[in-house]
Amino acid sequence: MTSLHDPFRLDGARALVTGASRGIGKATAVALARAGADLALSARSSGALKETAALVEDEGRTAVLVPGDLAEPGAAEAVVDEAAAALGGLDVLVHNAGVLPAQDDGAPILVPLQDSAQADWDHVVSVNLNATAALCRRAHRHLTGSSRASVVVMSSLAGVAGAPRMEAYGASKAAQIALARSLAVGWARDGIRVNALCPGWTRTDMTTFAYSLAPLSDWLMAHVPLGRWAEPDEIAHAALFLACPAASYLTGQALVLDGGTSVPDGGLAGIPKPPSPFTA
Ligand SMILES: NC(=O)c1ccc[n+]([C@@H]2O[C@H](COP(=O)([O-])OP(=O)(O)OC[C@H]3O[C@@H](n4cnc5c(N)ncnc54)[C@H](OP(=O)(O)O)[C@@H]3O)[C@@H](O)[C@H]2O)c1
Repeated sequence: MTSLHDPFRLDGARALVTGASRGIGKATAVALARAGADLALSARSSGALKETAALVEDEGRTAVLVPGDLAEPGAAEAVVDEAAAALGGLDVLVHNAGVLPAQDDGAPILVPLQDSAQADWDHVVSVNLNATAALCRRAHRHLTGSSRASVVVMSSLAGVAGAPRMEAYGASKAAQIALARSLAVGWARDGIRVNALCPGWTRTDMTTFAYSLAPLSDWLMAHVPLGRWAEPDEIAHAALFLACPAASYLTGQALVLDGGTSVPDGGLAGIPKPPSPFTA
């Protein structure tokens, strides 16, 4: 339903954001709250979720915690049901939680597929893709009761462009886009919009390994026409746009938010690139 008021607001909407403990998810939760939504916040770490909840409450909105490990069977269903029960329904689902293949200390594993482990592939696919399906499957019954239902799936530029040395990540992010586009058609007559958001390189814990290492950061940013990292708030604002009535005729799309990275620049305006740190 198109709002007669400010179409960029979500007053009284009930929203579940996964991966809300930090980074893009935390920024998205705050942006939705600032637009008037009440929030159910999910991630594994309850302590960090409480910090996000305090920011939501600072905006004058309700925040409830629905912690869970989305790699565990049944967790996605429980998170959705607890969120809908606590908020009295669900209008917006932002599935933002996601992982790179990583070592126990959190350092990313950046190796070609032939050198990678099946267990790492399985973990990445379970959080990034399988949880998307499980959350959406369960959320459908709640979203059908809403007059402004919207799902935002946090995919990645990696899902559009590919991701050498992060093949599990790229494949899971591409599959998220296909799932979002498929659901957009399947759920259109249920009144549920479904879109994917595809950020480029964004400054969060996930990318500390890259932005804190000057040669790697410089090389990556040489491929970004805007010449800098995205900040979490810049992605959050796009997530809000996809979720709110301003996007009421927008469904089945993958919105790429990458500072121009995906525009081929091999022509007259080509930007000089330093050699890759992986091949130098
Ligand atoms: N940063 C980028 O450059 C970039 C670019 C494109 C797309 N993205 C996507 O944006 C999303 C957010 O990324 P970010 O950069 O903000 O990463 P981040 O700072 O590492 O945050 C990841 C979030 O996912 C949660 N999470 C991780 N594993 C989980 C699990 N098993 N169960 C439940 N929650 C889990 C984390 O919370 P806990 O650890 O507390 O569970 C955290 O809230 C991801 O889907 C990512 O793929 C990021």
